[in-house]
Formats: sequence, structure tokens, C-alpha cells
Amino acid sequence: MKTEEIVALHDNYLMNTYRRYPIAIVKGEGTKVWDADGKEYLDFLGGVAVNVLGHCHPVVIDAIIAQVKELVHISNLYYSKPAAELAQLLVLNGGLDKVFFCNSGAEANEGAIKLARKYQWRKGHKEKYKIITAAHAFHGRTLAALAATHKPEIQEGFGPLPTGFQSIEWNDVNNFTKHIDETTAAVLLEPIQGEGGIYPISKEFLKRVRAACDETDTLLIFDEIQCGMGRTGTLFAYESFDIKPDIITLAKGIANGLPLGAVCAIYSVAEAFQPGDHATTFGANPVVTAAALATLQVLISEGYPERVATIGEYLLDKLDQLQMKYPHVIAEVRGKGLMIGVELNIDGKSVLRACHSQGLLANITAGNVLRFLPAYTITKEEVDKAVDVLENVIKDILESWV
Ligand SMILES: Cc1ncc(COP(=O)(O)O)c(C=O)c1O
Repeated sequence: MKTEEIVALHDNYLMNTYRRYPIAIVKGEGTKVWDADGKEYLDFLGGVAVNVLGHCHPVVIDAIIAQVKELVHISNLYYSKPAAELAQLLVLNGGLDKVFFCNSGAEANEGAIKLARKYQWRKGHKEKYKIITAAHAFHGRTLAALAATHKPEIQEGFGPLPTGFQSIEWNDVNNFTKHIDETTAAVLLEPIQGEGGIYPISKEFLKRVRAACDETDTLLIFDEIQCGMGRTGTLFAYESFDIKPDIITLAKGIANGLPLGAVCAIYSVAEAFQPGDHATTFGANPVVTAAALATLQVLISEGYPERVATIGEYLLDKLDQLQMKYPHVIAEVRGKGLMIGVELNIDGKSVLRACHSQGLLANITAGNVLRFLPAYTITKEEVDKAVDVLENVIKDILESWV
């Protein structure tokens, strides 16, 4: 089937929830993908921060195939070796003390919100139910995750949303921490905001929030769904901020492409969940956890977080140079590791369309921020190529103005 036919079939039978690009990807290998018409692309979006080891990484594929041949699904009524091994590896490498597996990022955040409220309830703090989030954050599309994502444009028409959520601007730490009080169950933060436009939150801000949480027995939840799993140069994003959250949520890159989410928590908090408190049929599915185990083993044994820090700096540096050359086109370059945003002064959609036609995949978030979330396996040559494409696109647009 060619792209045109796939697009027509899609439009006929799938709900119209996504503004899709007119591209149908049919094959991927490493950092490259191919569309149904045979065109090759350099993938600098990585399935939106999912394909951390690149497409079809052989070790992950082998683990999936081996597990599929043994057992695909059995339910959480029984014990499971890949889930246990994966939880152990996460915990031994910074993933707090106990893990709950689910199927997506939004579901992980739902689980974290429930866990925080149950923790406070078990301690007899029934008045501590509020979840404080940061303005411009994104935590997912299910109802509680949506309530935690204060964006009227995506909340509209879905009310009433669950109550007890408060979103606060985070440019003023004194004002932010003032709201953390005897009614707050938890503060939920992305240490580096992704969908919001790639905004790293400062170490000082996070330290002050941690202190305010400690003073009021409020839990600190880090949503590392986009910035975790090595994306910003450490396996867990919190490791570079000198503070430890009480709960971490993970998803996206954890299984290199298969759907898995996780809620990690410190002992005292994890204990709040007792049998019957929370569940999900597919969570910790053997195939998905086997894929995640293989992904994590490769990430750790081959030192990928360190590699991300180095190659990320190289990419950031090249983009900074481009910004200095074209300040009228590029307002700012932000990010950490391989989570990078290029804020544009010109229409982002036309820049993205031109990148696509020149064989480079990325996306636009928060209106006008060109976002790069490539696989950790990208080479310097591929970084050079991507930046060259962007420069060519900018030149073409500037030429079309004269
Ligand atoms: C920081 C963050 N949290 C939560 C989510 C929701 O994850 P999912 O789409 O897997 O539900 C996303 C997705 O983009 C995200 O970036």
C-alpha cells in the first residue's frame, strides 16, 4: 500500500484525534525510518521520546521474540519473572524502592496521584488531597492527568474534571511554595517540561519545593515520562538535581517502543497501596517487561546516559551556533541531553514541513518550538546532517522572503 491509500484508509476508520503529518512510516532501523513510498528519513523525534535505543534494536527484538514464544499474557494474579527482574533493575539503579507497572504515561500519573492521596489518607490526613502542578506542564489525557494538565484548550468539553488540582506559575518560587500547605497531598512536576516547550526547571527551584514538601509532609512526584530513562544524561532525571522525589512516573522510553508505564515510590509511600487498592489487567505484561528489561540492561551496560550527555551537548552547541547565525529565525535553543527545543520566531509548521520534505523527522510543541528527541544511538555525523537540513530549511525560507 502506498502512502495515499494508507491515509485514506486511516481517515475512514480511525477517530480524528490527531493532526497527523501526511507520512506513513512502514519500517525503522536504528535512527532511520522509511515511508510507504520508500522515502528515507533521519528520525530526530524517536516516536516522541520512545525509541531510546533506536528502531528495532536487535537485543530488544530478541528479548521480545524469546518471550512471545514462552508466554504472552497471564494476568497479575500470578508472579512474573520479567516484571520482577525489571523492577529489581530499576530499583538498584535509582528507581526508588518499589514499582507498580501499568501501560502508559497518563496511567502512571493516575497511579501516582492515587498513591499520594492514599498515603495521606492512611496517615489520617484526610484533608491533604490537593495535587499542585506547574503551569505549562503536561501529564496526560485521562481525566485526572488532564486535570493535572492545566491547559484549557485540551480540557474544554470534558468536564467536570476531578477536583483538587491546582496549577501554579513557577517563575516565582516563593509564590509556588506558599501554596504547599496542610491541604496538599503532593506536588507533581516534570523536572524538565516537555510538551510545554522544553523548559528545564532549576535546581534551586526544585530544592526549595523539596524543602517545602518536607516541612508539610507533602509528597514530591517527578513525572519523568519524557525526561527519564537516560534522556537528559542520567538514568533518572532527578539524579542531576541533588534531590530525591518520593514518587517517580515513567513510560515512553522504558520499553523502547512497547507500551509500559511505571510508578516508582519510596518504601513508606509504596506501602499505602495494599491488595485491591489499584490494578490494571495488562500492567507488567511479560512481553512488555521483557522488552523493558532488555532495554534497561543495554542502557546501563553500554553507558547510554553518559553518551546522551556528550552527544546532547554536541547537538545543543551546533544549534546554538545556528541561533547566533540566524537570530531572527531562532529565538532560543533550550534543553538537556537529547531533549532539545528550538524556539522559532517564524511559523514552526512551515519549518517542520520543509524538514520532513528534506528527510528529517521532528515535531513542533507549545506553538513554535521545534523539538528534537532522537535515539541515544545517533552519531555526530547524523547530528551534523540534521543541523544542515535545518540550516537549509532556514535559508530557503529566508530566500523566499526576498
Ligand atoms: C511528561 C509527560 N507526562 C505524561 C505524558 C502522557 O503519557 P502517555 O501519552 O503515555 O499517556 C506525556 C506524554 O507526552 C508526557 O510527556
